[in-house]
Order: sequence, then C-alpha cells, then structure tokens
Amino acid sequence: MKSYNVAKLLAEDKTQIEIEIKGWVRTFRANRFIALNDGSTINNIQCVVDFDALSEATLKRVTTGAAVHIKGTLVESQGKGQTVEIQVNALEILGDSDPETYPIQPKKHSFEFLRENAHLRTRTNTFSAVMRLRSALSFAVHKYFNENGFYYMHTPIVTGSDAEGAGEMFRVSALNAKNPPLTETGDVDYTQDFFGKETNLTVSGQLEAETYAMSLGKVYTFGPTFRAENSNTSRHLSEFWMIEPEVAFMDLAGNMDLAEDFMKSVIGYVLEKNADDIAFLEQRLIQEDKSKPQAERSEMTLTEKLKFVVNNNFKRVSYTEAIEILRNSKPNKKKKFKYIIEEWGADLQSEHERFLVEKHFKCPVILFDYPANIKAFYMRLNDDGTTVRAMDILFPGIGEIVGGSQREERLEVLKEKMAELDIPEEELWWYLDLRKYGTAVHSGFGLGFERLVMFTTGMGNIRDVIPYPRTPQNAEF
Ligand code: 4AD
Ligand code: MG
Repeated sequence: MKSYNVAKLLAEDKTQIEIEIKGWVRTFRANRFIALNDGSTINNIQCVVDFDALSEATLKRVTTGAAVHIKGTLVESQGKGQTVEIQVNALEILGDSDPETYPIQPKKHSFEFLRENAHLRTRTNTFSAVMRLRSALSFAVHKYFNENGFYYMHTPIVTGSDAEGAGEMFRVSALNAKNPPLTETGDVDYTQDFFGKETNLTVSGQLEAETYAMSLGKVYTFGPTFRAENSNTSRHLSEFWMIEPEVAFMDLAGNMDLAEDFMKSVIGYVLEKNADDIAFLEQRLIQEDKSKPQAERSEMTLTEKLKFVVNNNFKRVSYTEAIEILRNSKPNKKKKFKYIIEEWGADLQSEHERFLVEKHFKCPVILFDYPANIKAFYMRLNDDGTTVRAMDILFPGIGEIVGGSQREERLEVLKEKMAELDIPEEELWWYLDLRKYGTAVHSGFGLGFERLVMFTTGMGNIRDVIPYPRTPQNAEF
C-alpha cells in the first residue's frame, strides 16, 4: 500500500488502488463525508466512510481538527467538486480534537481572531495558502540568485555598529538589568557587557554585504532584520526578513535592472508553481471586494495584478519629476494630503507614494535621484552635489517595497559625509577600508520580504504574512 499526500492523490490518474493517508479533519458531514487536509495543497480530499466500516465510538471521534490515519481505495468521485475520493476501509484516530473548544471551526473567522490563534491559523485555507506562497517565494529568491551567479552570504544578526541609520535598534545585552555596572559619569558601562561594547540587533545586512561584494563580486543576504520603531501600521514589523543583493562594478541603472528582473522572476515563479493557492486567494479577494463600495474595489484580479507586474516595465521617474507631479496633483491642490508638497526636498510620505503608483502611473514605479539630505550617508553623491543615486521601488497597494542605491565609493566624499552626520570613523573603519583598497562602483538594494508576500497574496496586513509577527506590544508565541 502506497503512502500519499493529498496533492499527489488528487493528481493520481489511476483509480481502484489501495492507498493510505494521514491528515487533519476539516469537516465531517452527514456522518459519512470527511474533508481531509494535510497541508500539501489548498484542496481537501473527500473520504467516504461506510456506516458499518467504523464503530460508533470511532465515528464520534471524527471531529474538526482531529488527526487521522486512513486506509482505503481511491475511486472516481460520485459527487461534484472532485474527480477522486477515498472509500475508507480503515480509520485510526491519531489525535483527538475537542469540538467544544477547538478554535478553528468550519466557518469564517476574522483575521484578528486568527492572529490570536496564530499557532493554529495555518489550518485554515487562507493562511495555509499564504504560508505555502511565502515558502515558494523564499525558494524562488534563492533560485534566482543562484542561477545568476550570486553567492549567498550570512550577515551577522548581532551588530556592533549602529551607523546604518535605517532605524531605531534593539539592544542586545547580558548585563544585569537591575544593577548594571556604571561608568564614572553614570552611564551604563558596556565595556563590561558580553561583547565588551554596546551591541544591537541588525537593521540591515548591507554594510557587511558590501564587503563581500568587493571580493566575491555578486552576493546577497536574506535574513531577519529588526527595527524598534513604534510604527503600528499594516506595513511595518519590528522583525522582518530582508533580501539584500550587492554587486561590484554595477551602477544605479544596473541596480534598477536587477531589481526589476528579480521581482518579475520570483513573482513569475509562484504564478506558475502555486496557481491553486493564488486562485484561492483571488476568490477570497473577490468576495471581500463585494462588501466594499464600488470605488474601492480593485480593477484587477490577483492573477491579473501579478501578471501585470511580470509583463510590464516598471516606470522610472526621478524624484524631481515626482515632486512636480505631486505638486500639481489634485489631492495636493485640494489639500487632501496630510502632508502638502510645497517644494523640492520634501520627504515623500506613503500617501504620496501610493498616489504615484495607484492613481498617476498605475504601475510599479522606480523613483531615483533623491535629495541627499533625506537619504542614508552611504549613497553615491551625484555631480549636482545635492542629489544621491538612490532608488525606491513603489508597488500598488504596498507603497515602498524596495530601497537601494549606488554606494559612495570615493573615500574623501564618504568621510566628509560621515563627519557631517557625526558618524565616527572608528566605528566604520572596515567600511572605509573598502574605499581605500581597490574601491569601485557598486550598488545594491533591500527588498522587504513580507511586503513582497503581501503583494503576491493580496493580504492587506503584514501581520498576516509572517508566521509569528513581532510588533509594538506584541511578541506572543
Ligand atoms: O529602505 P530600507 O530601510 O533600506 C535598507 O535597509 C538598505 N540598507 C537596503 C539596502 O540597500 N541593502 O529597507 C528596505 C526595505 C523597504 O523598502 C521595505 O520593503 C522593507 O525593507 N522594510 C520593512 N518591512 C517591514 N517592516 C518594516 N519595519 C520595514 N522597514 C523596511
Ligand atoms: Mg527605505
């Protein structure tokens, strides 16, 4: 007897074969029809129980959430909705459920409720589909870089430098919190801490990735990053995963080409490999849309949206052009934006980014050449002396999904910039060394993995695309 998973069974073209399978009961209808799922696919397999095949006592234990082991015959289905089903010959209860208290009842649950039950939420269709897609996207990331000559590099999680400036950091300390050693001036004495200095969880692997790009040529990191900002939005996590490629001898134009090709490739991969999950999520969105006013409904289905990204060029627009568009836009003139764009130099808020992608261009947009003073210290200064070779990629429904730049490769210019921002050279001596020994043009970017998963699944809240979200005031599980 062959052991199967549900995905393989549903694809099996031979019937009248003896099979066995293990999974969880989704529903048990009319004391006869078990919908069984084992996580291998969004689809359940129907298992038909003959009345006399099982004892009364066993039948009672077939409840939603129970784990079962079924032996039976694969037959052509009599009913609608599936091609094959299992005629059950033997059923063993592996683990009982409790129909009174089991949180995942066969009915619609709110996402808030499921977040509180995040340890069980992948037993629902929506979350199992989202997490299978997350897994597939993650594989597609490694596949893309591997096939394009990149080395995968593990950048440190605990970092001794906080110069990146990408956000507030979480301190890592082994000092006694109640009674830490103090310096003469009354500050905590981190020289007595575990690492002999103040350390934090990393906000980005970029600076370390740059060191490897300048020897291995093309590298990427894909790991967890941490930001202690109190931004309680549907697009921010305190712990999120970032993909950061870094490439020697590549300029900003090459960086944009890479980012665009990469994103099209990973989205194209799941469109092909995870069609069932995407189709399910698409239907979910169509249902959700029905309860919205016409104006808020999406113009494209999820598949159409994903195909649109794969098949169309991202629009490349300079910051200066974007400011002109925004300044002359309706919401700006009618003071509908919370932050009115008055002049060149303004930092773009997510309302502006979303206007550009969703209302104006209606496609993914790459904004580049930002004012130097609203971007990080390491970005390559343009010849105009005021803008840097930065790029942000904006996606419909998401806003900023990628942030990157060409890096400042000139030692003196970089030093000047660091001095301006009070970044101590001692802290980044190794970063400066790259500019001393064999410096060269190089570039890279960071893609927020959860924002990519949001876009691909159509989920509206970032807490619903990572298994156990960490957000302000929340680190359950
Ligand atoms: O724009 P950011 O801050 O860029 C960097 O950290 C660079 N060092 C990247 C690089 O050039 N190697 O972050 C990059 C991306 C953002 O565009 C966004 O998608 C995501 O990371 N991101 C977040 N995602 C979830 N929650 C947060 N709090 C995020 N902050 C940034
Ligand atoms: Mg950014």
